[in-house]
Amino acid sequence: MEKKHPSIISKDSPSLNVGFTPSKNFKKLKHRVQMLSLSNVFSKEDLINFEKKILNFLDFKKDYKIEYSVEPKIDGISASLTYKKGKLIYGVSRGDGKEGELITENLKTIKDIPQKISHKEFPDDIEIRGEVFIENHDFKKISNNFANARNAASGSLRQKDPNETKKIPLKFIAYTFGYFQNNNFSKQSEFISYLKKWGFKVSEYNKIISGIDNLIFNHKEFENKRFNIDYDLDGLVYKINDFNLQNRLGFVANAPRWATAHKFSAKSGSSQILNIDIQIGRTGALTPVAKIKPVNIGGVTVSNATLHNEEEILRKDLRVGDYVKIERAGDVIPHVISVDLKKRSQKSKKFLFPSKCPSCGSKVSKDYNFTTKKYDAVRRCSSEGYYCEKMSIEKIKHFISKDAMNIDGLGKKVVENFWDLKIIRYPYDIFDLKYENIEKLEGWGKLSVSNLKYSIEKSKKVSLEKFIFSLGIRHIGQENAKLMADNLKDIKNLLKIDAKYNFQKFLNIDGIGETQVKSLKNFFSNEINVNIIKKLTQQLTISKVENKKTGKFIDKTFLITGKLNGISRAEAKSKIEKQSGKILSSVNKNLNYLITGDKPTIKKINKAKELNIVILEQKDFLKLLD
Ligand code: IVH
Repeated sequence: MEKKHPSIISKDSPSLNVGFTPSKNFKKLKHRVQMLSLSNVFSKEDLINFEKKILNFLDFKKDYKIEYSVEPKIDGISASLTYKKGKLIYGVSRGDGKEGELITENLKTIKDIPQKISHKEFPDDIEIRGEVFIENHDFKKISNNFANARNAASGSLRQKDPNETKKIPLKFIAYTFGYFQNNNFSKQSEFISYLKKWGFKVSEYNKIISGIDNLIFNHKEFENKRFNIDYDLDGLVYKINDFNLQNRLGFVANAPRWATAHKFSAKSGSSQILNIDIQIGRTGALTPVAKIKPVNIGGVTVSNATLHNEEEILRKDLRVGDYVKIERAGDVIPHVISVDLKKRSQKSKKFLFPSKCPSCGSKVSKDYNFTTKKYDAVRRCSSEGYYCEKMSIEKIKHFISKDAMNIDGLGKKVVENFWDLKIIRYPYDIFDLKYENIEKLEGWGKLSVSNLKYSIEKSKKVSLEKFIFSLGIRHIGQENAKLMADNLKDIKNLLKIDAKYNFQKFLNIDGIGETQVKSLKNFFSNEINVNIIKKLTQQLTISKVENKKTGKFIDKTFLITGKLNGISRAEAKSKIEKQSGKILSSVNKNLNYLITGDKPTIKKINKAKELNIVILEQKDFLKLLD
């Protein structure tokens, strides 16, 4: 019609505005099995704790010797390769762990990545995962263009033209699997030996070690050895070798319980504090940051170092003008470790921590922690909602971040810029942007605006879990957001929450405690917060939590009282949850089963009898499980 009658073409006709140019955005692909992160340990003490938790979970004796597969942690970019019938079908970057970018052609330029595998024992359908990296001697040749080797590997993997990727000699070392049909291996070390047989490169430094002391000894030895290795390592990965134990242990939020990364110690440098800034975080935390004379520490220029909190400043008596030693470890924020008092000027003055929020002037206070019965070390701005400017900016940055709404076209810098230009004040403003105005701004053009629009449009379909997490409610991280989403099921139920809501209901969710309930109450008692949810709901498509549950305990609820034998409470809980059952935190009419171990709480048993709830001893519970 428009062709025939050009006069009817309106300014907002869809024919003028269909789709968006994805430009350098690669196609996305969902990982069949999530790509996880690793928890970190830095010291022997951390490591002891890591193992203790595992032994507790498995209800193993304290002296049980766990066998670990010890592997160097290469500081590169992880990639997942899908092979079907021996042919490389997809190569995907990690992305947010759930969904990555399809970079198959670029990965195919890497010589270490086999494109066809004819070994007869190679599985028919498997995702092989490993690290893409660049060796230091190769990096030196191109270091003008990149800050460090990791950036170089990442940049080259994300080239639009695979011929550009090919110019940079990338390497690949395999270390694990994602999706794996019929995995018959029983140990990680066995799997690694097969990776080699199938034609993948594996690290020559992989080892099997048991016992904390042996792990520590090996770590120390490696700390020196690593400087003779021609690529960057930022620690050692410890994985429980036995797949059966790995399966029993499972995962927390986005990291396995059965593995951790033991980081190498930090590199340090000296510099001078030029100023102390107070940064205000999303949750109102006031963090003092030292602006220091730029100094190169281990290949990275450092000009900021965190001073953590007021107590830390007092303890070290840090002052503007002081000469300090600064440490940087891997991706951790650099921090000040000591002051050179001999060099201190006599005119220097003690640093006074502000008693009011430097951004909005609200009172700052320290929270009381009910568990430790102590006041927090951190001072926080006491304002709620979007009253405090600095907090608001941080909340919006959180809202768009990878694990939240994942609006990758709208980076942190753009949020700050749009805030200064008064384009954005609340999260919902993002979905009301006047693109024609943005196009006129300095640094923006048709293509970049089209990319921005594309990534905003794409983010509009979101799960309830991610939506709740993106609101940035204090103490509601990814794990708790998931618990809340599973409980509320539909955005309609979230919309029912306001100041008058019965927040105590949330205490029935195992994992949600008084701290979270208090924080939810604060959040929903603020009208602006409630209004933001309302508006966002109109703009977004928030999916329901689907009842894709399987297992024999669907909609059944459990409570454990007393000590179980041979199985920890955490593992019992995880087994119940695997069968789609739920754990309650008190005996009430919604409870189906009360499981009793040694020395149960009599009150709970009496109450359960009163309410006619099924009471199971441990052996009956285990029968039910099997
Ligand atoms: S295992 C199941 N093994 O570390 C846990 N990861 O912080 C995750 N990495 O994204 C993967 N060397 O990029 C594993 N031997 C190794 C590794 C390794 C380096 C990286 C990988 C991952 C990150 C997790």
